[in-house]
Amino acid sequence: MSTVSSVVGGSPVPGGRLVPSTNPGRLHEVGGEVALADAPTFVAAAEAAHKAQQAWSAVPAPVRGRAIAHIGRLVEDNAETLARLVTDEIGKPYAEALGEVREIIDTCDFFLGEGRRLYGQTVPSEMPDKQLFTFRKPVGVVAVITAGNFPVAVPSWYIVPALLAGNTVVWKPAEYSAVVGSALHELFVRGGGLPDGVLNVVHADAGATEQGLSRALEEGLVDKVGFTGSSAVGREIGALTGRHLQTACLELGGKNPLVVTPSADLDLAVEGALFSGFGTAGQRCTSLGTVIVHASVHEEFLQRFQEAVAGARVGDPREDVLMGPLIDAKFAQRFEEYLGWLQPHHRVLGAQGRITAANPRDGFVGDPAAGLFYHPVVVDGVRPGDQVFMEETFGPLVGIATYETLTEGIDLANAPGYGLSSSIYTTDPREAFSFRERIGAGMVSINNSTSGAEAHLPFGGNGKSGNGSRQSGIWVLDQFTRWQSVNWDYSGRLQKAQLDVTELVPDTTFRL
Ligand code: UN1
Repeated sequence: MSTVSSVVGGSPVPGGRLVPSTNPGRLHEVGGEVALADAPTFVAAAEAAHKAQQAWSAVPAPVRGRAIAHIGRLVEDNAETLARLVTDEIGKPYAEALGEVREIIDTCDFFLGEGRRLYGQTVPSEMPDKQLFTFRKPVGVVAVITAGNFPVAVPSWYIVPALLAGNTVVWKPAEYSAVVGSALHELFVRGGGLPDGVLNVVHADAGATEQGLSRALEEGLVDKVGFTGSSAVGREIGALTGRHLQTACLELGGKNPLVVTPSADLDLAVEGALFSGFGTAGQRCTSLGTVIVHASVHEEFLQRFQEAVAGARVGDPREDVLMGPLIDAKFAQRFEEYLGWLQPHHRVLGAQGRITAANPRDGFVGDPAAGLFYHPVVVDGVRPGDQVFMEETFGPLVGIATYETLTEGIDLANAPGYGLSSSIYTTDPREAFSFRERIGAGMVSINNSTSGAEAHLPFGGNGKSGNGSRQSGIWVLDQFTRWQSVNWDYSGRLQKAQLDVTELVPDTTFRL
């Protein structure tokens, strides 16, 4: 069995507490052992990154862009193997895993050209013989802490632009996706020809990461933190970085609404709800939380949705299925707690809980006893005040609520206080634009599901979903660079801004 270790300054870190990384779709298969590092290893990784940063930022940006191009090519050449690793380590159905790998390539495709831009501006001065400029400067060392539901795409959203902009990186993947994390690290280092210390990977549990990050921040070794994960941990990271006068890039949970209006194409809405509710077994941060459906189409929608859910292929993620297992035992356990939030006024359509011989699912693909497989659950009658309506239920659970007026529907969509993704199905432009205007989410889909953001549009949320930071495309550059303004006076004398400015004299009394 292979052992996955942290890599600091180009060298594997010996020792560490060994934990197995289990395939959640085939619990008898262990993909590798992970050596979990301690807090000092995290600090050492930040030191290595700090040491490597100046030289890396001195590499011309177009050359760094070429490195990103080569990384993208190497990922593309290894796409199927990497996707298979994703499927085997976190149980994501293979087609989706391949799509996830595609997101890394898309991100590289976008940023390889940014190396030849990284534009600054020339700005006119208020005085003669003086020029003003802006430059983007790298922030320094970036610590990236990511979840395992998108174990390769989401890390690349941080690492690719961070490296391109001249930063060095310490990356801490989820413990339960360490094998694929290690593979991605290797593809980046080899593909990019990255010098030692430019991209370090630390496998560690939450405690060691928290301690290591705090110390690295205290010692001035980390300049920016990127975090994708729960709102609760995001709050802690926001507070910790705030104490060091930093703003973290936070991509947190969601309770993403999908509003179905009376004018909607119901089949399209059902298809969107099925994919975003149960793709990745509901464990995307963009997964559908609650369908908010107009009272006049509630029964019709529910019936068609129920049929679609009952007919969906669930099972072995190596096969052509909509939904595989939960990504890790920790999430399966939490999902069982969320099922405990259901109350007597809720109407649960179909079976719920773990799929077993005693609690079977028709048409299950493979052997349900092999993995952490759960029934996809649809719960009608959820409403504000219900925990299941207000909070993220990371897993295959979709709530249904009903509204009468669009204003009420949008209020329901905003009520949980998250604000990542949202969706409306309508054929009426007035409804689409009112929704766009009033919804609190950072991302809005019209006649498309809540999942499936493209890799070059701003990605991020408001409220409990984040602190307003945005990833992807040109927008993420503001996370990994700081603006430097430069003024250059070549007049040979001290020209004082605001004081030595020529004023043209207007004729204010003139009238036609
Ligand atoms: C996430 O769940 O953290 O929009 C990212 C989507 C994917 C990315 C999700 N492209 O669903």
